[in-house]
Amino acid sequence: MQQTKSKYNIIIIVVLISIFCMYNVVIYTSKECAAPIKLTTKALEGQKIWQNNNCWSCHQIYGLGGYLGPDLTNVFSNPNKGENYIKAFLNSGVKSMPKFNFSEAEKEALVAFLQQIDSTGYYPNKEAIIKPNGWVEILYKDEK
Ligand code: HEC
Repeated sequence: MQQTKSKYNIIIIVVLISIFCMYNVVIYTSKECAAPIKLTTKALEGQKIWQNNNCWSCHQIYGLGGYLGPDLTNVFSNPNKGENYIKAFLNSGVKSMPKFNFSEAEKEALVAFLQQIDSTGYYPNKEAIIKPNGWVEILYKDEK
């Protein structure tokens, strides 16, 4: 009796592991879920500067990051902000943001990074639709 029970358990475990493996194959090979965002070389440089200088610790992109400073997802395309506004913040800093001594090329790279981030979508995303299966459909800029 004990033996058939443990055999039964092993079958269940094998079935669950197989389902898990198949699920992973489907998730990671499905083109529908892939997000092929390729940063340009300049934007990649900007991303490196962003990471090395801990911009994350105070700022968010798509709502994720630190909360001392504002979200920067759409700072580039904001009609009242944009490139020169971003550079001005980097040049001078403010009370709660350090002044960074970046070269012009480094500032350009950061702007390129924020510009490409901006081109992917909106935050906050007011057009998000939560589907019954839990999938969230959001509005992307390049689909418009
Ligand atoms: C120690 C925290 C901190 C770090 C680190 C930091 N910032 Fe900031 N940043 C702030 C705060 C706080 C503000 C808001 C200041 C204000 O509006 O008075 C701000 C504002 C900004 C703004 C203007 C945003 C807007 O919408 O008005 C930009 C652009 C910006 N930061 C970029 C950066 C970048 C790029 C980095 C990394 C190189 C960085 N910050 C690192 C705290 C920080």
